[in-house]
Amino acid sequence: MLMKILVLNGPNLARLDIRDSSIYGDLDYTELRQLIESSCKSHGFEADIRQSDDEATIIGWLHEAADEKLPVIFNPAAFTHYSYAIRDAAALLTTPLIEVHLSNTMSREEFRHTSVISGVAKGTIAGFGPHSYVLAIIALKGILG
Ligand code: DQA
Repeated sequence: MLMKILVLNGPNLARLDIRDSSIYGDLDYTELRQLIESSCKSHGFEADIRQSDDEATIIGWLHEAADEKLPVIFNPAAFTHYSYAIRDAAALLTTPLIEVHLSNTMSREEFRHTSVISGVAKGTIAGFGPHSYVLAIIALKGILG
């Protein structure tokens, strides 16, 4: 039986089709979802993949992960850099949460160098385009066995 995980994506990630592909990679959101889904399956996970531009919705999903003890792969997008409310919700989890970014945020504008999420994440993977998610899935497999 596959273990269920949540893969949560923050604002603007559903519009990868019109975002800068030199920064975020060549896949649109539908293709990214397919990559995550198939990679999850081959590592023994069933992915529940969600995206929202809304902070409260994401907080609700993190509460759900905390209540149902679900591991989370999380790209908080721009919320990464300033949402203490999302950080506090992420801190409620007793299961691993892996922070993911398509781009290498540390090589970009200075405001992206701060993550208020990293301190409550098991670890962070950034800079490998869509493959960042695959690496996070492999890391999760390693942690959960
Ligand atoms: C991002 C990086 C963030 O700085 C940015 O606001 C995003 C996407 C990434 O995946 O590279 O929307 O999280």
